[in-house]
Amino acid sequence: MVDPTTLERLHGRFEEVLVEAATSDAPFVTEAATHIISAGGKRFRPTLVFLASQFGGPVDEGDLIDAALVVELTHVASLYHDDVMDEADLRRAAPSANARWGNSIAILIGDYLFSRASARVAKLGVEYVALQADTFARLVQGQIAETRGPGEGEDPLAHHLQVVADKTGSLIATSAVFGGMVSGASAEVIEALRSYGEEVGVVFQLSDDVIDITSDEAGKTPGTDLREGVPTLPTLMLGASSDPADAELKTLIDGDLESDEALTVALDGLRAHPVMAQAKAEVRRRAELARSHLAALPDGDAKDMLAQVCTDLVERST
Ligand code: FPP
Ligand code: MG
Ligand code: MG
Repeated sequence: MVDPTTLERLHGRFEEVLVEAATSDAPFVTEAATHIISAGGKRFRPTLVFLASQFGGPVDEGDLIDAALVVELTHVASLYHDDVMDEADLRRAAPSANARWGNSIAILIGDYLFSRASARVAKLGVEYVALQADTFARLVQGQIAETRGPGEGEDPLAHHLQVVADKTGSLIATSAVFGGMVSGASAEVIEALRSYGEEVGVVFQLSDDVIDITSDEAGKTPGTDLREGVPTLPTLMLGASSDPADAELKTLIDGDLESDEALTVALDGLRAHPVMAQAKAEVRRRAELARSHLAALPDGDAKDMLAQVCTDLVERST
């Protein structure tokens, strides 16, 4: 049932209802709430809902679309808030909502979209509401932990991995679980989907961490996180090294990287360092861990596509 034509049709329908869900009777609210949605996006979470719905019984397509809406609206809402906190000017190559309308509007539109997600999840039932509430709590806790940074004596790498799991893994896990729930899948299948989703979410972020160093100008601008001092897997691994030979590079990447010259020297230093191979190996290891959770699922096209996600995540960063 999950042939490419069906997926394409579901995605087409999804795009329509996503815009409908963000539409208000106040024209300005509609304009601001559809701004990031219209700027594009991979719709990875909805895809996961659709694929994960293939492991149970017959699926009500209205429920399936609603579940996909809940996770995508929550995701987009969190991006409006994230861009305020990160003072980001761009989102999906378009001006961010805060750049265009200011922080207050961006925060309120995030709230508005979250209210639209709440309306949809209420239609699905109390079990969905409970999971959505817990997922929202994890998103917020992850963001709070990131904002505060590691506590006194806390391992910065362990802190980063917890932030990534809460901020990214949680909603991706819930996307997979919602797909399982909509299809009435068994508890065992739903648990496998949850574990897979959580791990894929973490791998997705960690592969992004690697790409921040390895990308060339044709792809993501290299060194964006490095320049801003945002912790990533390679820099945290370097930070954990007690080898005196690494001291110079550590000081360099902790220093002022505003100039293009300084950034290039730091990027070249990291690219030539064994920590990159170590970070890539960790992405590969965790992608294989994600794939291993699929063993509990019945074979078929949907399972193959979920496995392909793991392969793609490794390939994009190694
Ligand atoms: C992107 O992180 C942000 C998130 C994954 C979610 C952060 C969570 C919140 C802002 C709280 C949740 C709020 C609502 C309304 C649901 P990033 O800055 O690392 O990534 P980027 O490169 O996409 O900006
Ligand atoms: Mg951000
Ligand atoms: Mg952020």
